[in-house]
Amino acid sequence: MSSSPKTVAEVLKAGADYLAKHGVDAPQVACELLLGRLLHCRRLDVHTRHDQVLDEKRLEAMRRGINRVAAGEPAQYVTGETEFMGRAYKTDKRALIPRPETELLVEEALGCAPLWQKPQPAVLDWGTGAGCVAISLALARPGGLYLALDTSADALALARENSARHGLENKIGFSDSEVSDLLEAESMDAIAANPPYVPTAEWEKLPRHIRDHEPRAALDGGPTGLAVIESVIQDAALTLRLGGFLFLEIGHQQGAAVTWLLASNGFSDAQVKKDMAGHDRIVTATLAGPG
Ligand SMILES: C[S@@+](CC[C@H](N)C(=O)[O-])C[C@H]1O[C@@H](n2cnc3c(N)ncnc32)[C@H](O)[C@@H]1O
Repeated sequence: MSSSPKTVAEVLKAGADYLAKHGVDAPQVACELLLGRLLHCRRLDVHTRHDQVLDEKRLEAMRRGINRVAAGEPAQYVTGETEFMGRAYKTDKRALIPRPETELLVEEALGCAPLWQKPQPAVLDWGTGAGCVAISLALARPGGLYLALDTSADALALARENSARHGLENKIGFSDSEVSDLLEAESMDAIAANPPYVPTAEWEKLPRHIRDHEPRAALDGGPTGLAVIESVIQDAALTLRLGGFLFLEIGHQQGAAVTWLLASNGFSDAQVKKDMAGHDRIVTATLAGPG
């Protein structure tokens, strides 16, 4: 980026042009994120400050950020922050950047009235990453008992930092154990999971800012993309109480296959919900009781 632009509007335009030339996806959004961080405002509020003049210190910080994004780093790792359900989360290479689609997973869980009518529902966030699912649920439904698991110690450390940031240090239990090692049979009322579900061949073709920077273990779901989903469903069939609820984020064409896996593992009422782009995204199901 040249050293001439000074106002927010000029920096936005010059930065977005520069990133576009370097083949960065959504260059305008990346610039908005960087400027939002520098100006301590939300991404879209950057546009209410078009005439603000940036001092040399901020311009220099912006140039450094733009250069990192141009070199392929995700803007959210450069800013160290991302927004999920209206709250800010610390974000770095230890865990996947929380995605807007996952807000649908949280909304489905929050909308499950019979779950929250229980006195102290036990809820597992399988594969917590940066912690956004467990933290959002615990803030919205403080009466629940929350456990967040991840096999990545790095991700768990970040999730713990985020839970402290949101005042939930003692409210969510964190563990790096596999579900089957940690949980007793029929001990949970609900499981929310956003497992890795991208087929390996598709992972290899992901844009470099994702493939080269976000943890592969958070994305790669094996040759068909269904391997980890299947193990989550099997874990859920063992650890949920009868009548317990499973909320699962899935890949855009996995609705039918996941519905079949759920039925094969004793779940009923499977429903596939679409995201804003009209793709399969969330599946909800109930562990069927006897008969
Ligand atoms: C798609 S990311 C989801 C992260 C976070 N829940 C979110 O929605 O932003 C999947 C997470 O599952 C974790 N994971 C992968 N295999 C796992 C396993 N067998 N048990 C527990 N967590 C696992 C990964 O380390 C990663 O953090």
